[in-house]
Amino acid sequence: MVQKNIVWHKSVVTKTDRQILNNHKSCALWFTGFSGSGKSTLANELDVQLHALGMKSYVLDGDNVRHGLNKELGFSPKDRVENIRRVGEVAKLFVDSGQIVMTAFISPYRKDRDQVRKIFDKTEFIEIFIDCPFEICEGRDPKGLYQKARKGEIHDFTGIDSPYEPPIEPELTINTEQYSVREAAKMIIGYLKLQGII
Ligand code: ADX
Repeated sequence: MVQKNIVWHKSVVTKTDRQILNNHKSCALWFTGFSGSGKSTLANELDVQLHALGMKSYVLDGDNVRHGLNKELGFSPKDRVENIRRVGEVAKLFVDSGQIVMTAFISPYRKDRDQVRKIFDKTEFIEIFIDCPFEICEGRDPKGLYQKARKGEIHDFTGIDSPYEPPIEPELTINTEQYSVREAAKMIIGYLKLQGII
């Protein structure tokens, strides 16, 4: 629905003002991949490394956001679309506030991720495909959910009875089977430096 009678109120302190104060640019690092692929672990390690460098960063994590903001949403296609739409909007606010925000959501549908990309300036949205073979993710099963899904106790489980559409042209692809968490985080830091973000 397009809202009527609502006018955007421009903030006096701009995104650029905030970035100058922080001494780095802001962006959204959008991690996507199967449950158990290592999105949250890597996003958190990156958060630690950025924090140690004196940067303003924050992680929005699927499991956490689903405890609060998105607690009424389940895993039907419709609910996942809404989950990602809201997270995209929240991530945009973080970027507007001058921070580096990392989002760790399966975000299984390509269309939804592309939709989120559209609300950002071109250089501000960095899609990171956490490319870990499905069998490895299922084998790790850190929360025991794959086992439950195999037994039919959970439905609409990504990779089992719900699809995952990998990105076609992500800014970065990281195979978490090949690299350690620290190495992978260092690679992303290298990318951010190369892009002039930090
Ligand atoms: S998304 O598909 O809408 O992006 P999101 O990242 O928020 O998913 O949540 C995924 C997390 O919820 C998984 O890591 C897992 O711990 C848990 N989960 C519970 N049920 C499901 C399900 N049916 N499919 C996928 N993940 C599930």
